[in-house]
Amino acid sequence: MTISTVKNSAQNPVRSQVRNAPLYPFTPTDAPIKLDQNESPFDVPLGLKREIFARLEQISWNRYPEMHAEGLKQKISALEDWDVAGVVLAPGSNVLIYALAQIAGIGQRVLTVAPGFALYALSGKLLGSNLTELPLEPDFSLPVDDLCSELQRGGPGILFLAEPHAPTGALHSTSNILKILESARGEWLVVLDEAYVQYTNSSLKHLALEHDNVAILRTFSKAWGLAGVRLGYLLSNPNLAANVQKMLLPFNISVLHQVTAEVILEHPEITKSLVEQTIFERDRMMHALQAHPNWTPYPSHANYILIRTGDARRVHAQLLERGILVRRQDSYLNLEGCIRVSIGTTFENDAFIAATKDIS
Ligand SMILES: Cc1ncc(COP(=O)(O)O)c(C=O)c1O
Repeated sequence: MTISTVKNSAQNPVRSQVRNAPLYPFTPTDAPIKLDQNESPFDVPLGLKREIFARLEQISWNRYPEMHAEGLKQKISALEDWDVAGVVLAPGSNVLIYALAQIAGIGQRVLTVAPGFALYALSGKLLGSNLTELPLEPDFSLPVDDLCSELQRGGPGILFLAEPHAPTGALHSTSNILKILESARGEWLVVLDEAYVQYTNSSLKHLALEHDNVAILRTFSKAWGLAGVRLGYLLSNPNLAANVQKMLLPFNISVLHQVTAEVILEHPEITKSLVEQTIFERDRMMHALQAHPNWTPYPSHANYILIRTGDARRVHAQLLERGILVRRQDSYLNLEGCIRVSIGTTFENDAFIAATKDIS
């Protein structure tokens, strides 16, 4: 190490990539009707919460939990019909995104599309990866040719895609994903983030059985209604899963995580019916938004709708005056004027629909 390096690091030990990276783009705001974070609007029913508390009472909190939540992994393996050795759990799928970026992005490439889920690019920035964000096509479809040529230009690295896409809600065509996988070959790790998969009737999970370099991400934060608990998981081949597991700290799934998820998974019919309700409400919201004289809602396969308005700042403020919080998206590439609204309860959606009638 040269003297000048030592001097620099003494001046500021924090890597420049971390100092220069933006914060995660989110400003907490209170509002009676909260439609800004794509959460489930339905809390865990009280009966199930009581069952969770009762089971937690039987557990010794002074002992460490299982090292990698082996019992819960078994349950997820049964739910997904997936080899348990290919399941990795983390306190939130965002932890898995960051771990994946660490295993294949440090000193290598991170590739994604813009607009996209902010954490993919942010992970690349924090880790000092060689980051490429390719713009989506004007109709929000994937820039397949550009993605394929970037992949062929060379890795190694990691490609992040969300399916359905966030924040547009679009479902990419499987044939396009297959073309992308063909170009990715072995040198790229391809992450297909299915955070909203329950709101569609298609999954790309099978691709992780057929391709050793594909990882599927799932979360308990959306359809399962456990955003406050923090739990996500990865499905891949056992070898890739073992490498991801190395990046995660031992004992990082607490007994609270484990017991909560176990109880919720014992009652899948509750989640199924709440998801059906959300899909019904999404259609109702879409129908109402299509009647708006100045706005364009984009078709969604998730639990939110992206809407192009004339002025996102004004619309966001006018909705907030009526107690309704949505998320501005207008700072993202090609999303001028856009807001994103989560699908709420019938009551919340009625309030949103009524408010849109007064706002131009
Ligand atoms: C596409 C996508 N992936 C991952 C996440 C994060 O999920 P988690 O709550 O499991 O960290 C989100 C959250 O909004 C998301 O939209």
